[in-house]
Amino acid sequence: MRPGRSLRPHVKAFKSTELARHLAGRGNHQAFCCATMREMEGMADAGLGDDLLLANETLAADRLGNLVAAGTGRITVAVDSDETVAVAVAAARRGPLAVLIDVNVGLPRCGCRPDDAGRLAVRARAAGLEVRGVMGYEGHVVGNPDRTWRIEQMSDSMSMLRVAHDAVGGDVISAGGTGTYDLHDWATEVQAGSYLLMDTAYQQLGLPFRQALFVEATIISVHGDEWAVADAGLKSFGMDHGAPTVLDRELFFSSDEHTTFGFADSPAPAVGDRVRMVPAHVDPTVAYHERMLVVSDGDVVDEWRVDLRNW
Ligand SMILES: Cc1ncc(COP(=O)(O)O)c(C=O)c1O
Repeated sequence: MRPGRSLRPHVKAFKSTELARHLAGRGNHQAFCCATMREMEGMADAGLGDDLLLANETLAADRLGNLVAAGTGRITVAVDSDETVAVAVAAARRGPLAVLIDVNVGLPRCGCRPDDAGRLAVRARAAGLEVRGVMGYEGHVVGNPDRTWRIEQMSDSMSMLRVAHDAVGGDVISAGGTGTYDLHDWATEVQAGSYLLMDTAYQQLGLPFRQALFVEATIISVHGDEWAVADAGLKSFGMDHGAPTVLDRELFFSSDEHTTFGFADSPAPAVGDRVRMVPAHVDPTVAYHERMLVVSDGDVVDEWRVDLRNW
């Protein structure tokens, strides 16, 4: 992955300060991205708040104010409207707060129109906020397995961000994710997070990241040589990118607390056996679980709490 400041790892993908600390040491990262106020507060409380970006809009002026008042480090928030600028202005009465102008670069989600970015920057600066630059998340591009298509779409998205940045100024251009991390020769920092633990949706892109996260389930019922049932289902996996994979087995279906699978060419398992399952979408999957066990050579060597869950 990109080293140091060229990557602002997105904690939404793993929601664990222990894993963030590990990552900060390994990749020399001092700056992190968050999606929720809970993630911002948890990172700051854990001493990982040197440079935190809430890469999302918030109306929680009180909580943002508390965070800047605590003085744990540099705090930046994305804004895309007069209303979110007003929230930042209110919070900034309690301590230093910077903003990035969040620009819609093709994903129909947050972000202002590229031609409105300059106006918002003027408004924010006039109200005394530091405007560090722009952000534009091309979330409609990152997951497409066709690299050529991603390159083309990225170019369209980044042209929009460039127009916005010309109007806004500042030295931060924050964009991108796991599927586009190596296509960004123009953004100053990439906001990827899924690369760390991975999922089957991102596996299809042929990226140089191995699957690190598995849900280990227990077989609770076996039906001859036809099917077996594991005790993890819809309540253990984010399903928006598809059903989980049962390693070396043939998935039939998942329901609330169960996943039913056939045996492919392998022998039938026994009740009590364990199976490893791989999520199709890592972020919501992690958010369902309280802790991650760190396994090395088959031994559990550590336990990381998923302490940034909830809001
Ligand atoms: C604002 C924002 N930036 C970046 C990302 C990139 O994350 P990933 O590593 O999953 O591609 C996301 C993911 O949803 C996001 O919401």
